[in-house]
Amino acid sequence: MKRTLFYPCSGRDIFESVRSWMHIIDDFWFAEMSFSGWREFKSAEDMTEIPWRIPNFRLPGNLVSENETTLTGENDRIVPVRSATYHLKQFNKSITLNFAGGCAVNAFHALPVDRIAVFVNRGDHRVSGEGSSGICWLSDEGTTYFPEGMLQQVLSRMDVGGFIVTDGSNAVEALAPYWRQREFPADVHLSIAPVTLHGVQLRCVGMLRPKYGPTLVWQNVG
Ligand SMILES: C[S@@+](CC[C@H](N)C(=O)[O-])C[C@H]1O[C@@H](n2cnc3c(N)ncnc32)[C@H](O)[C@@H]1O
Repeated sequence: MKRTLFYPCSGRDIFESVRSWMHIIDDFWFAEMSFSGWREFKSAEDMTEIPWRIPNFRLPGNLVSENETTLTGENDRIVPVRSATYHLKQFNKSITLNFAGGCAVNAFHALPVDRIAVFVNRGDHRVSGEGSSGICWLSDEGTTYFPEGMLQQVLSRMDVGGFIVTDGSNAVEALAPYWRQREFPADVHLSIAPVTLHGVQLRCVGMLRPKYGPTLVWQNVG
């Protein structure tokens, strides 16, 4: 079974996710408005000249194939996708990086898989504008898209054993113990107690590069 990482509103923050998870993830999905020049697409024909702005970076592998396609999200919204598959000699496996343009909520609905093994969201702000999405992926705040909050939706699609990676951006307080703090112990993740959210127990098992606070890695332990 293929394992999927989903990182909405990723901007150019791609490389660390790939490097950190490429040994266990097969399909990476980065969803970002600016990949497709801030446009919403009504139909596939509407997308003939997409000004793609996918960040350049080098992967420790060989490019095997590239592809362009579309997915259909809720209310028939079209999600343009660019994909590149690499063979990683080091792990003797292939990974596919998928870059979905337009609104990340559409991409979330349109993902061609039900289950998410790693969900990443960081470096963002709950007030939209000036580059921030205002989308509270890890919060119980009701939105037009998800009246009961998006966290429940995200958790309901997570694999048991899977991971949530967050610096606390747009997240419930329990997942944001050091949000906006610049100073914290280098091993802060070791002292963070497990939390239970919507019946899912999450244990803090690691840490990645800090953004608006330490980027904590929470494992869904069931
Ligand atoms: C503050 S930046 C954070 C980028 C990245 N997470 C990081 O840490 O560097 C927020 C990003 O969300 C994108 N964005 C805003 N609204 C969006 C939406 N509805 N769907 C997808 N991306 C969106 C912006 O283009 C921007 O790249």
